[in-house]
Amino acid sequence: MPEIIDGKKVADEVFAECRRDLADLASRGITPGLAVVLVGDDPASQVYVGSKVRRCRELGMASFKHELPATATQRELLDLVAWLNAHDEVDGILVQSPPPPHIDEAEVVRAIDPAKDVDGFHPVNVARLALEDPSGFVPCTPLGVQRLLMASGVETRGAHAVVLGRSMIVGKPMALLLMSKGRGGDATVTVAHSRTRDLAAVTRSADILVAAIGRPEFVTADMVKEGAVVIDVGINRLPAPGTKTGTRLVGDVDYAAVAPRCRAITPVPGGVGPMTIAMLMANTLKAARLRRGLKP
Ligand code: GUN
Repeated sequence: MPEIIDGKKVADEVFAECRRDLADLASRGITPGLAVVLVGDDPASQVYVGSKVRRCRELGMASFKHELPATATQRELLDLVAWLNAHDEVDGILVQSPPPPHIDEAEVVRAIDPAKDVDGFHPVNVARLALEDPSGFVPCTPLGVQRLLMASGVETRGAHAVVLGRSMIVGKPMALLLMSKGRGGDATVTVAHSRTRDLAAVTRSADILVAAIGRPEFVTADMVKEGAVVIDVGINRLPAPGTKTGTRLVGDVDYAAVAPRCRAITPVPGGVGPMTIAMLMANTLKAARLRRGLKP
Protein backbone atom coordinates (compact mmCIF):
# COMPACT_ATOMS: atom_id res chain seq x y z
CA MET A 1 0.00 0.00 0.00
CA PRO A 2 1.20 3.57 -0.68
CA GLU A 3 2.41 6.05 1.86
CA ILE A 4 -0.44 8.48 2.51
CA ILE A 5 1.20 11.90 2.66
CA ASP A 6 -0.23 13.75 5.67
CA GLY A 7 -0.59 17.42 4.75
CA LYS A 8 -2.02 18.35 8.10
CA LYS A 9 1.05 17.00 9.91
CA VAL A 10 3.49 18.86 7.64
CA ALA A 11 1.35 22.03 7.86
CA ASP A 12 1.57 21.76 11.67
CA GLU A 13 5.37 21.69 11.38
CA VAL A 14 5.22 24.90 9.34
CA PHE A 15 2.87 26.49 11.90
CA ALA A 16 5.31 25.54 14.68
CA GLU A 17 8.09 27.34 12.76
CA CYS A 18 5.77 30.33 12.32
CA ARG A 19 5.12 30.45 16.08
CA ARG A 20 8.87 30.53 16.81
CA ASP A 21 9.31 33.25 14.22
CA LEU A 22 6.37 35.24 15.63
CA ALA A 23 7.87 35.04 19.12
CA ASP A 24 11.14 36.41 17.78
CA LEU A 25 9.32 39.25 15.99
CA ALA A 26 7.22 39.96 19.11
CA SER A 27 10.45 40.38 21.11
CA ARG A 28 11.29 43.19 18.67
CA GLY A 29 7.83 44.72 19.11
CA ILE A 30 6.59 43.53 15.70
CA THR A 31 3.16 41.98 15.09
CA PRO A 32 2.86 40.91 11.44
CA GLY A 33 -0.47 41.55 9.75
CA LEU A 34 -2.29 40.04 6.78
CA ALA A 35 -5.09 41.81 4.89
CA VAL A 36 -7.53 39.55 3.08
CA VAL A 37 -9.89 41.05 0.52
CA LEU A 38 -13.03 39.23 -0.58
CA VAL A 39 -15.21 40.60 -3.35
CA GLY A 40 -18.68 39.10 -3.77
CA ASP A 41 -20.28 36.15 -2.07
CA ASP A 42 -18.81 33.00 -3.63
CA PRO A 43 -19.39 30.39 -0.88
CA ALA A 44 -16.11 28.49 -1.43
CA SER A 45 -14.12 31.76 -1.32
CA GLN A 46 -15.90 32.72 1.91
CA VAL A 47 -14.80 29.42 3.47
CA TYR A 48 -11.17 29.87 2.33
CA VAL A 49 -11.00 33.48 3.52
CA GLY A 50 -12.54 32.47 6.86
CA SER A 51 -9.85 29.80 7.38
CA LYS A 52 -7.06 32.22 6.52
CA VAL A 53 -8.30 34.85 8.98
CA ARG A 54 -8.88 32.25 11.73
CA ARG A 55 -5.39 30.81 11.32
CA CYS A 56 -3.78 34.28 11.54
CA ARG A 57 -5.57 35.00 14.79
CA GLU A 58 -4.74 31.59 16.23
CA LEU A 59 -1.04 32.18 15.56
CA GLY A 60 -1.20 35.67 17.06
CA MET A 61 -0.86 37.57 13.81
CA ALA A 62 -3.03 40.57 13.01
CA SER A 63 -5.61 40.04 10.30
CA PHE A 64 -7.69 42.57 8.44
CA LYS A 65 -10.68 41.25 6.54
CA HIS A 66 -12.21 43.48 3.87
CA GLU A 67 -15.44 42.30 2.32
CA LEU A 68 -16.74 44.18 -0.69
CA PRO A 69 -20.12 43.51 -2.32
CA ALA A 70 -20.27 41.73 -5.70
CA THR A 71 -21.25 45.13 -7.16
CA ALA A 72 -17.98 46.78 -6.06
CA THR A 73 -16.25 48.61 -8.89
CA GLN A 74 -12.71 48.16 -10.18
CA ARG A 75 -11.96 51.67 -8.85
CA GLU A 76 -13.16 50.81 -5.33
CA LEU A 77 -11.02 47.69 -5.29
CA LEU A 78 -7.95 49.55 -6.59
CA ASP A 79 -8.49 52.26 -3.96
CA LEU A 80 -8.67 49.64 -1.20
CA VAL A 81 -5.44 48.00 -2.43
CA ALA A 82 -3.72 51.42 -2.53
CA TRP A 83 -4.86 52.08 1.03
CA LEU A 84 -3.55 48.67 2.21
CA ASN A 85 -0.23 49.28 0.39
CA ALA A 86 0.18 52.50 2.38
CA HIS A 87 -0.86 50.96 5.72
CA ASP A 88 2.22 50.12 7.78
CA GLU A 89 0.58 47.41 9.93
CA VAL A 90 -0.26 45.46 6.78
CA ASP A 91 2.60 43.16 5.76
CA GLY A 92 0.68 40.92 3.37
CA ILE A 93 -2.21 41.61 0.97
CA LEU A 94 -4.30 38.87 -0.59
CA VAL A 95 -7.25 39.42 -2.90
CA GLN A 96 -9.20 36.17 -3.00
CA SER A 97 -9.55 34.69 -6.47
CA PRO A 98 -11.75 34.48 -8.48
CA PRO A 99 -13.33 37.94 -8.22
CA PRO A 100 -16.66 38.69 -9.95
CA PRO A 101 -16.37 38.72 -13.78
CA HIS A 102 -16.49 42.53 -14.18
CA ILE A 103 -13.25 42.87 -12.18
CA ASP A 104 -9.94 42.97 -14.08
CA GLU A 105 -8.00 40.71 -11.75
CA ALA A 106 -4.63 41.21 -13.46
CA GLU A 107 -4.85 44.97 -12.93
CA VAL A 108 -5.71 44.48 -9.27
CA VAL A 109 -2.74 42.15 -8.79
CA ARG A 110 -0.43 44.68 -10.47
CA ALA A 111 -1.66 47.32 -8.02
CA ILE A 112 -0.44 45.33 -4.99
CA ASP A 113 2.95 46.39 -3.63
CA PRO A 114 5.23 43.46 -4.62
CA ALA A 115 6.75 43.62 -1.11
CA LYS A 116 3.27 42.76 0.29
CA ASP A 117 2.26 40.30 -2.43
CA VAL A 118 2.21 37.18 -0.24
CA ASP A 119 0.29 35.28 -2.97
CA GLY A 120 3.25 35.72 -5.33
CA PHE A 121 0.98 36.70 -8.22
CA HIS A 122 2.51 40.13 -9.03
CA PRO A 123 4.61 40.15 -12.24
CA VAL A 124 7.66 41.19 -10.21
CA ASN A 125 7.34 38.09 -8.03
CA VAL A 126 6.61 35.86 -11.04
CA ALA A 127 9.86 37.14 -12.53
CA ARG A 128 11.77 36.59 -9.28
CA LEU A 129 10.63 32.96 -9.23
CA ALA A 130 11.75 32.49 -12.83
CA LEU A 131 15.09 34.14 -11.94
CA GLU A 132 15.42 32.00 -8.77
CA ASP A 133 15.73 35.19 -6.72
CA PRO A 134 14.99 34.08 -3.12
CA SER A 135 13.72 37.54 -2.09
CA GLY A 136 10.50 36.99 -4.06
CA PHE A 137 7.21 35.46 -2.98
CA VAL A 138 6.23 32.08 -4.40
CA PRO A 139 2.52 31.17 -4.76
CA CYS A 140 1.40 29.29 -1.64
CA THR A 141 -0.01 26.11 -3.17
CA PRO A 142 3.01 25.08 -5.27
CA LEU A 143 5.31 26.15 -2.43
CA GLY A 144 3.30 23.86 -0.14
CA VAL A 145 3.56 20.98 -2.63
CA GLN A 146 7.34 21.36 -2.77
CA ARG A 147 7.51 21.39 1.02
CA LEU A 148 5.32 18.26 1.20
CA LEU A 149 7.62 16.44 -1.21
CA MET A 150 10.69 17.40 0.81
CA ALA A 151 9.05 16.45 4.13
CA SER A 152 8.05 13.07 2.68
CA GLY A 153 11.59 12.28 1.54
CA VAL A 154 10.65 12.32 -2.15
CA GLU A 155 13.78 12.90 -4.25
CA THR A 156 12.99 15.48 -6.93
CA ARG A 157 16.56 15.69 -8.22
CA GLY A 158 16.78 14.00 -11.62
CA ALA A 159 13.19 12.77 -11.35
CA HIS A 160 10.70 13.24 -14.16
CA ALA A 161 7.99 15.47 -12.73
CA VAL A 162 4.83 15.95 -14.77
CA VAL A 163 2.68 18.96 -13.83
CA LEU A 164 -0.85 18.50 -15.09
CA GLY A 165 -2.35 21.99 -15.48
CA ARG A 166 -0.86 25.34 -16.52
CA SER A 167 -2.60 27.89 -14.30
CA MET A 168 -0.85 31.00 -13.02
CA ILE A 169 -1.76 29.99 -9.43
CA VAL A 170 -0.46 26.39 -9.50
CA GLY A 171 0.79 24.79 -12.73
CA LYS A 172 3.28 27.38 -14.01
CA PRO A 173 4.88 28.25 -10.66
CA MET A 174 4.94 24.53 -9.75
CA ALA A 175 6.92 23.77 -12.90
CA LEU A 176 9.37 26.62 -12.17
CA LEU A 177 9.90 25.43 -8.58
CA LEU A 178 10.51 21.81 -9.57
CA MET A 179 13.05 22.80 -12.22
CA SER A 180 14.84 25.33 -10.00
CA LYS A 181 18.30 24.52 -8.67
CA GLY A 182 18.72 22.82 -5.30
CA ARG A 183 16.67 20.91 -2.75
CA GLY A 184 13.09 20.29 -3.79
CA GLY A 185 14.08 21.13 -7.38
CA ASP A 186 16.49 19.78 -9.99
CA ALA A 187 13.69 17.78 -11.60
CA THR A 188 13.12 17.22 -15.31
CA VAL A 189 9.75 18.90 -15.76
CA THR A 190 6.98 18.39 -18.29
CA VAL A 191 3.88 20.58 -18.20
CA ALA A 192 0.83 18.81 -19.61
CA HIS A 193 -2.70 20.15 -19.97
CA SER A 194 -6.08 19.62 -21.58
CA ARG A 195 -4.63 20.10 -25.08
CA THR A 196 -1.70 17.71 -24.65
CA ARG A 197 -1.66 14.93 -27.25
CA ASP A 198 -1.69 11.40 -25.79
CA LEU A 199 -1.92 12.80 -22.28
CA ALA A 200 -2.01 9.37 -20.59
CA ALA A 201 1.33 8.42 -22.14
CA VAL A 202 2.87 11.65 -20.82
CA THR A 203 1.50 11.28 -17.29
CA ARG A 204 2.50 7.57 -17.26
CA SER A 205 6.13 8.62 -17.70
CA ALA A 206 6.04 10.66 -14.46
CA ASP A 207 7.99 9.69 -11.37
CA ILE A 208 6.18 12.57 -9.67
CA LEU A 209 2.74 13.60 -10.94
CA VAL A 210 1.21 16.86 -9.73
CA ALA A 211 -2.46 17.02 -10.71
CA ALA A 212 -3.80 20.59 -10.89
CA ILE A 213 -6.19 20.51 -13.82
CA GLY A 214 -9.37 21.34 -11.90
CA ARG A 215 -11.47 18.39 -13.06
CA PRO A 216 -12.87 15.91 -10.56
CA GLU A 217 -11.21 12.48 -10.56
CA PHE A 218 -9.58 13.23 -13.94
CA VAL A 219 -6.44 11.12 -13.31
CA THR A 220 -7.28 7.43 -13.63
CA ALA A 221 -5.18 4.35 -12.86
CA ASP A 222 -4.05 3.87 -16.49
CA MET A 223 -2.48 7.37 -16.40
CA VAL A 224 -0.12 6.58 -13.52
CA LYS A 225 3.12 4.60 -13.50
CA GLU A 226 3.55 1.87 -10.90
CA GLY A 227 5.53 3.34 -8.00
CA ALA A 228 4.88 7.00 -8.85
CA VAL A 229 4.37 9.76 -6.29
CA VAL A 230 1.03 11.49 -6.91
CA ILE A 231 0.20 14.93 -5.54
CA ASP A 232 -3.44 15.94 -5.90
CA VAL A 233 -4.02 19.71 -5.87
CA GLY A 234 -7.69 19.49 -6.88
CA ILE A 235 -10.59 20.54 -4.69
CA ASN A 236 -13.87 19.68 -6.41
CA ARG A 237 -17.32 19.35 -4.93
CA LEU A 238 -19.52 16.55 -6.28
CA PRO A 239 -23.07 15.69 -5.19
CA ALA A 240 -22.92 13.10 -2.41
CA PRO A 241 -24.78 9.90 -3.22
CA GLY A 242 -27.91 9.23 -1.18
CA THR A 243 -28.46 12.89 -0.27
CA LYS A 244 -30.45 15.71 -1.89
CA THR A 245 -28.16 18.65 -1.25
CA GLY A 246 -25.01 17.12 0.30
CA THR A 247 -21.64 17.36 -1.43
CA ARG A 248 -18.43 15.39 -1.16
CA LEU A 249 -14.96 16.72 -1.75
CA VAL A 250 -12.86 14.99 -4.41
CA GLY A 251 -9.51 15.80 -5.95
CA ASP A 252 -8.32 15.72 -9.55
CA VAL A 253 -7.24 12.10 -8.99
CA ASP A 254 -9.46 9.01 -8.83
CA TYR A 255 -7.97 8.18 -5.45
CA ALA A 256 -9.44 4.70 -4.92
CA ALA A 257 -8.21 3.48 -8.30
CA VAL A 258 -4.85 5.28 -8.36
CA ALA A 259 -3.62 4.89 -4.75
CA PRO A 260 -2.80 1.14 -4.95
CA ARG A 261 -0.30 1.82 -7.78
CA CYS A 262 1.54 4.63 -6.00
CA ARG A 263 4.59 4.80 -3.82
CA ALA A 264 3.02 7.80 -2.10
CA ILE A 265 -0.12 9.89 -2.62
CA THR A 266 -1.86 12.89 -1.04
CA PRO A 267 -5.49 12.50 0.05
CA VAL A 268 -8.25 15.09 -0.53
CA PRO A 269 -9.00 16.57 1.93
CA GLY A 270 -5.95 16.53 4.21
CA GLY A 271 -3.19 16.61 1.59
CA VAL A 272 -2.24 19.81 -0.23
CA GLY A 273 -5.11 21.91 1.22
CA PRO A 274 -3.65 22.48 4.71
CA MET A 275 -0.29 23.36 3.16
CA THR A 276 -1.66 26.34 1.21
CA ILE A 277 -2.64 28.22 4.37
CA ALA A 278 0.57 27.20 6.12
CA MET A 279 2.69 28.68 3.32
CA LEU A 280 0.54 31.83 3.29
CA MET A 281 1.41 32.36 6.96
CA ALA A 282 5.09 31.66 6.22
CA ASN A 283 5.03 34.14 3.31
CA THR A 284 3.41 36.80 5.51
CA LEU A 285 6.16 36.38 8.11
CA LYS A 286 8.76 36.61 5.36
CA ALA A 287 7.15 39.86 4.15
CA ALA A 288 7.11 41.24 7.70
CA ARG A 289 10.84 40.53 8.10
CA LEU A 290 11.94 41.75 4.68
CA ARG A 291 9.96 45.00 5.00
CA ARG A 292 11.94 45.77 8.20
CA GLY A 293 15.31 44.83 6.78
CA LEU A 294 15.51 41.58 8.80
CA LYS A 295 16.76 38.27 7.40
CA PRO A 296 13.87 36.07 6.20
N1 GUN B 1 -8.05 31.11 -4.92
C1 GUN B 1 -7.64 29.81 -4.94
N2 GUN B 1 -6.36 29.71 -4.50
C2 GUN B 1 -5.97 30.96 -4.19
C3 GUN B 1 -4.76 31.51 -3.66
O1 GUN B 1 -3.76 30.83 -3.40
N3 GUN B 1 -4.76 32.85 -3.44
C4 GUN B 1 -5.83 33.63 -3.74
N4 GUN B 1 -5.73 34.95 -3.53
N5 GUN B 1 -6.96 33.17 -4.23
C5 GUN B 1 -7.02 31.84 -4.44
